[in-house]
Amino acid sequence: MGKGISIALDGPAGSGKSTIARAVALKFGYQYIDTGAMYRAITLKALKNKIPVDDESRLTELVANTTINFKYIGTGDQPQLRVIMDGVDVSEAIRSLEVTDNVSAVSAVAGVREALVKLQRSMAEEGGVVMDGRDIGTVVLPNAELKIFLTASVAERSKRRWLELKAKGVEVPLEELEQQIRKRDQFDSNRAVDPLRQAEDAILLDTTDLSISEVTDRIVELALAKGAEFKPT
Ligand code: DC
Repeated sequence: MGKGISIALDGPAGSGKSTIARAVALKFGYQYIDTGAMYRAITLKALKNKIPVDDESRLTELVANTTINFKYIGTGDQPQLRVIMDGVDVSEAIRSLEVTDNVSAVSAVAGVREALVKLQRSMAEEGGVVMDGRDIGTVVLPNAELKIFLTASVAERSKRRWLELKAKGVEVPLEELEQQIRKRDQFDSNRAVDPLRQAEDAILLDTTDLSISEVTDRIVELALAKGAEFKPT
């Protein structure tokens, strides 16, 4: 076997994708690829360059002139994934409220998607990856050995975001987050290009009443059945 299988993890905002993808990748010693971070990075650059988020031609040009890669810092149980754009670490900057508010619009631009999908495919070329996003099982890696679609109720996803922000010292009313999540769901599911939808051969996991480790264990089990092998210790 080569470097391992490809695992595609899709689902709406707040379904727990990134936490779970990271945990699964760690078990197998696979690379975790956060495709949402790539759309966020382009959004950050567009905002900095004052490019309107609906200016398709300038955004398409922008993405062609941008490099994005991932870097791990530290080892052991908690390696940190850093997002590097044009040589600069933007891991924190891409999580700002302004980026979050504008990323759906930027990620709806066909030229942006085309370039990032190409880059994502090249990152997964050798296998041994866990990639999370909205269109991984349907568009980016249609031949992935394992496809998972994670969901959770809007109330639960809003609560998770609220706790996440609170841990960072940011207090946002729960209702506001609920509204934000509904809006993003609506936008991501209804855009013309590569909307969020479950691949026919994806396994649906509702995480509303499951803990992170329960979901991780379930996916690990499914991956083992598809030929993944634990990272040697
Ligand atoms: O997962 P996230 O919140 O970081 O994603 C940010 C946005 O990027 C989200 O609103 C939808 C978009 N996205 C996408 O269109 N396709 C992907 N593969 C990943 C994210």
